[in-house]
Amino acid sequence: MNSRGTILYFDSGIGGLSVVKEARILLPEYRSVYVADDAAFPYGAWEEQALLDRMIALFGQLIAEHRPDLIVIACNTASTLAIEALRNAFPDQAFVGTVPAIKPAAERTVSGLVSVLATPGTVRRQYTRDLIDRYAARVHVRLVGSERLAALAEDYMRRGFVDEKAVSDEIAKCFVEQDGKRTDIVVLACTHYPFLINRMRKVAPWPVDWIDTSEAIARRALSLIGEMKPSNLLDAADLAVFTSGMTPPELCRLAKGFGFEVRQRPQ
Ligand code: DGL
Repeated sequence: MNSRGTILYFDSGIGGLSVVKEARILLPEYRSVYVADDAAFPYGAWEEQALLDRMIALFGQLIAEHRPDLIVIACNTASTLAIEALRNAFPDQAFVGTVPAIKPAAERTVSGLVSVLATPGTVRRQYTRDLIDRYAARVHVRLVGSERLAALAEDYMRRGFVDEKAVSDEIAKCFVEQDGKRTDIVVLACTHYPFLINRMRKVAPWPVDWIDTSEAIARRALSLIGEMKPSNLLDAADLAVFTSGMTPPELCRLAKGFGFEVRQRPQ
């Protein structure tokens, strides 16, 4: 094995693996550490200050232990809340965040009707509202908060099937018909959702463009890391860390399938 710099990917669960898939293609020479804060899943349901406090404390431990060259917050719910606070708390650490792709959706829509499908947390954030004001003022944006989709995606990853009626119910509000026009773009503003994309396509009332940001995040990571020298070269395997210490065996198997050694709990 070669000595490699480390990129740490972070999510509340296994959704961030959708970003890892893309990032590994562009950054194969980096070691991946994947951290799932599954003890606190779902992030979408947390009260903001409590989640922020939890994340700052957890990242203090993770940075000290893994000394990553770059941290990719592969979670919209976490990024829209905490990316600025994390940058302030750890000014020497490079971060890439994941935020709803409202700007590209506003540029691409033909009908002028765009929906943003996200967790209730991301929908509530001021950060998300500011993105709409700044980039989509002339577009009709419907924010759709889903209580269940992230968990349905985890279920799907675990068992290989999902209740399609439940998926259909969760995405129904994204489809708007107004003045003879219909929604033509749905932004997938949660990293769990790309795993359900085929099911969403199947149950959607009409075809739309689904915007998945994984590749754009990977490109952002590549451009940032291209400017750096790895600071902590390690001859070690890719590692997945689950904070609960009680992760179901199917999810551990899934992480192993992605080439990770699995560890329960941060040190
Ligand atoms: N994967 C997370 C995101 O991108 C959300 C899942 C959760 O609610 O914890 O928003």
